[in-house]
Amino acid sequence: MAKVISFGIQKGGSSKTTTSGIVAHILSQEYEKKVLAVDLDSQGNLTELLTQQDIYNFHGETVFEALKERDARKYIHNVTQGLDILSAEDHLARFPAWLYESYRGNRSLVLKETLENVQDQYDYIIIDTPPALGDQTINALAASDAVVAMFEASKFCYSALGRFLETCIHVQEMVNKDMKVAGILRSLIDSRRTDNKALIELVEEEYEDLCFETIMTRTAAIGRLSINGFSNNPELNPALKSYRDFVKELIDRV
Ligand SMILES: Nc1ncnc2c1ncn2[C@@H]1O[C@H](COP(=O)(O)OP(=O)(O)OP(=O)(O)O)[C@@H](O)[C@H]1O
Ligand SMILES: [Mg+2]
Repeated sequence: MAKVISFGIQKGGSSKTTTSGIVAHILSQEYEKKVLAVDLDSQGNLTELLTQQDIYNFHGETVFEALKERDARKYIHNVTQGLDILSAEDHLARFPAWLYESYRGNRSLVLKETLENVQDQYDYIIIDTPPALGDQTINALAASDAVVAMFEASKFCYSALGRFLETCIHVQEMVNKDMKVAGILRSLIDSRRTDNKALIELVEEEYEDLCFETIMTRTAAIGRLSINGFSNNPELNPALKSYRDFVKELIDRV
């Protein structure tokens, strides 16, 4: 059975997509695991990052169709050896409307039910969530064995973090008592900025046991990853070093 891991935080631009995409890449290409990446954000950034295609190419064959049928099987696309994706595009923005207008079951468990048919085909299912505490994120948390809370060093993200962790507890209590918070990953850090350093330390003090040791700095090569993609990208290998350290920690914790 696959381990299901979500990356979340309601603050936008906190490296959820970049980190979940790189983790899916490392697990499938370097650990040779079978990985399903799930794009739960209507921006379709994970879809674009991993496939390097226009997200409209997937129109009508996305995670939204899978959610509506509660069956992922027909909508899985292969990306590379060992890595598949349930893609997303703009129409996923209609998911909450569909849930409240047309769905009669437990609204938090639609994704979990959708993945049930494919869970034994993968070692890991990696879910990227949108920058909101809405229905997609709740469904991701309810379907997960483990959640990584992303923290980019800003005051707004610091404010978001406490409420994100409270939401995780709420989902544990309501629908998924087995889910655990794998940890807080500090990312997009600029080590030259003293305010960044102060925020990293603040989070470390407040959430000591939860913080991953690995801290992700901002690098130009990772910033360009959405443009250059994973294949034939010579600058990527050295830039992945800290992500490899993070994946080791993550595997140990889940
Ligand atoms: N380690 C990094 N170094 C440099 N740039 C990065 C790094 N991680 C992410 N970025 C860049 O930061 C921006 C935000 O990253 P990303 O899109 O992954 O965040 P997100 O949390 O998924 O955003 P959203 O909330 O909109 O979904 C992107 O332009 C991305 O290329
Ligand atoms: Mg994103």
